[in-house]
Amino acid sequence: MSDLPIIEPFRIKSVEPIPINSRHTREHALKRAHYNLFALESTEVMIDLLTDSGTGAMSTEQWAGVLRGDESYAGSPSYRRFQDVVRSITGMPEVIPTHQGRAAEHILFSQLVKPGMTVPNNTHFDTTRANVEAQGGTALDLVCDQAHLPESDYPFKGNMNLKRLETFLAMTNRDQVPMVMVTVTNNAVGGQPVSMENIRGVRRICDVHKIPLFIDACRFAENAWFISQREDGYGDIAPIDIAREAFSLADGVTMSCKKDGMANIGGFLALRDSSTAQNCRNVLIRTEGFPTYGGLAGRDLEAIAVGLLEALEPDYLRYRTRSIAYLVEKLHDGGVPVVRPPGGHAVYIDAKRAMRHLSAHHFPAQVLANEIYLAGGIRGVEVGSVMFGTRDEQGRELPAERELVRLAFPRRTYTQSHVDYVAEIILRVVRKADQLGGLQITWQAPSLRHFTARLAPLE
Ligand code: F0G
Repeated sequence: MSDLPIIEPFRIKSVEPIPINSRHTREHALKRAHYNLFALESTEVMIDLLTDSGTGAMSTEQWAGVLRGDESYAGSPSYRRFQDVVRSITGMPEVIPTHQGRAAEHILFSQLVKPGMTVPNNTHFDTTRANVEAQGGTALDLVCDQAHLPESDYPFKGNMNLKRLETFLAMTNRDQVPMVMVTVTNNAVGGQPVSMENIRGVRRICDVHKIPLFIDACRFAENAWFISQREDGYGDIAPIDIAREAFSLADGVTMSCKKDGMANIGGFLALRDSSTAQNCRNVLIRTEGFPTYGGLAGRDLEAIAVGLLEALEPDYLRYRTRSIAYLVEKLHDGGVPVVRPPGGHAVYIDAKRAMRHLSAHHFPAQVLANEIYLAGGIRGVEVGSVMFGTRDEQGRELPAERELVRLAFPRRTYTQSHVDYVAEIILRVVRKADQLGGLQITWQAPSLRHFTARLAPLE
């Protein structure tokens, strides 16, 4: 490895101005948005860390691909290039393009998940869970115990709990489990990686029970990098070869190319089994498009074909994971409670520990996310009781287990000085967090309420 300091391994060719606004403007905007950051106009945000999905910057080579895109309805060479790259990384012969990750999930589950079945996963992302449930199935999360210990510095907190998986499968009829899934990295528990040893362990258990294994591969390149850095025996292996080894253990892959595909839109489903692929293509034609474009334009397929390989470049991955780790360390050193060790795509602040004076009924993570916006125009997202709280039969609020603010970093978009700015603002906010008042919900949708809920300060 090089002994040079780590820098952004790119220079900037096209810039997009950041509108610098005043606290007065932001107060007005937040009030108009009913204290829900999803309701802001993005022009009211200075540093947008709402998601790393589809928000990254494309490279010169990707833009060159956009111009090369062939928009033929059938048999486009852009699809062939996309297929070749996906095959060369995943080793899967069947490559089905979709407009984004959740479409791949929907098509796959429509073929394999029947009412009453259960899909175990280390942790389902919300759309994955919703797509399992939409088929009448149960989404079962079996993440390792360390994932729930904020003070644990276990290097692979995203892992599946193999014992619980084994116990569950031993007690369950094989016909009721259409697949086991592994999500890399594990977004819902902090972008934490899954080790190769763990994926191999899941494969062994799947073999015993003759159940197929699928990888939710959104952040497969970041996961490969963590394996190279944290797992014995992988230090000298290129990320692309680590990714190939992980995929060699699976029967299929669902992918959102809006993450480690480095594109603004796109996804795919890749499979070994040609008869399942044929059935999936029949649904694809009905819901997404002809099998050589899925829900995408030829230009998108080109951008993804280039992006998937760029996401695996060691210099890029070193910079990417370093900038997350840098922010985690800066916040931790300044006394801000953050999920550690650093994950791949986001920093998670623990609002419960930062604001012990507020009960979960007053939505501390939403309060903190809003104050970070007011203080510096930075938009994160609440991952707490607004997002995951439930109601009992009397309509009383049952708070979520955790109260986190996620700051997800778009790829190749912000510089180190932006990261320093984010750290400075959060340190200022958290120092005075004990003075912040709670929020209440004044209106909510019957499901997925966090996207549209209206809130107001408590009297
Ligand atoms: N799986 C995981 C692990 C994800 O993080 C996401 C999206 C999806 C599937 C669905 O992919 O958005 O292309 O349909 N996560 C984004 C986020 C939205 O902000 O974490 P999609």
